[in-house]
Amino acid sequence: MSMGEGPDYANLFESSSLLCTSWETMFTIEGLSKRYPGGVKALEKIDLRIDGPQVVMIIGSSGAGKSTLIRCINRLIEPTTGSIRLHDLEITSLGKRGLRKARRRIGMIFQEYNLVDRLTVMENVLSGRLGYVSFWQAYRRKYPAVDISAAYELLDRVGLLENCNSRADNLSGGQRQRVGIARALMQRPDLLLVDEPTASLDPKTSRQIMRLVVELAKERGTPAIVNIHDVALARTFADRIVGLADGKVAFDGTAAEVTDQVLTDIYGEEDWSTTIKKGAEENGENNNVMTKINRESSAG
Ligand SMILES: Nc1ncnc2c1ncn2[C@@H]1O[C@H](COP(=O)(O)OP(=O)(O)OP(=O)(O)O)[C@@H](O)[C@H]1O
Ligand SMILES: [Mg+2]
Repeated sequence: MSMGEGPDYANLFESSSLLCTSWETMFTIEGLSKRYPGGVKALEKIDLRIDGPQVVMIIGSSGAGKSTLIRCINRLIEPTTGSIRLHDLEITSLGKRGLRKARRRIGMIFQEYNLVDRLTVMENVLSGRLGYVSFWQAYRRKYPAVDISAAYELLDRVGLLENCNSRADNLSGGQRQRVGIARALMQRPDLLLVDEPTASLDPKTSRQIMRLVVELAKERGTPAIVNIHDVALARTFADRIVGLADGKVAFDGTAAEVTDQVLTDIYGEEDWSTTIKKGAEENGENNNVMTKINRESSAG
């Protein structure tokens, strides 16, 4: 199928609501360790429990183990020991088939977007349904109308409706990440994993993208684990912050509890006054941001 010859998506666009995921049970990590070949201990006995649709931001120095943690959850990296449970499913003991199924329930948003450049925005978003449609449907790009409607709804929500037929490689970084977000949500995931989604973006776009991730996670009642370098951004948008240091949990609490001492525990000795000041200034706003997002999502 060449550009412009695709199905007439516009005619299939009807206002259907994406199914919201229900969150009755929980996500737990217990005693998770990862030792890479060669001996690097990237994670040591991590315990983490998420009981509701929380946005949990993971902060920590480069090499602290943030990406390893996120990638162990969907087993892009094999954990060495420990347990990872999503609802009733023990992810660490799944075989290939079981893992494929489990990955449908876990959406992932990447730093480098991981789009297929030669495909359109719409096709990239629809590829979020690949785990659900048959091989032949996917091969012939014959997605069910309900998926196409859902893709339109999401593209509208992330502000890319007008770009739906553009090739992915014609987009800016911020737009590409919006496609990445829409694609992950097309899976209707039970859990969203997000690894440094704004690391390649300017500060203003970073903030917009982070807000979008958090708002969409809240709207759909989907818990999210987000790796992030920017402490101020984490404080603005997190329900909860987990600090990793040398592969261990060094802090687990709210944005307001991230003090100078906490940052020193996580990152080592440094002058944190600017970060704290920036955080404190934003904290008034932060509370407003998260209160507003939480209020809107529970009202909607
Ligand atoms: N494939 C690998 N083989 C061996 N060691 C690795 C591998 N991947 C990561 N590591 C090591 O594991 C540790 C944790 O790395 P990880 O990428 O999880 O950190 P991170 O917190 O995501 O860092 P960054 O903020 O730079 O992204 C580091 O010491 C790293 O060098
Ligand atoms: Mg990383």
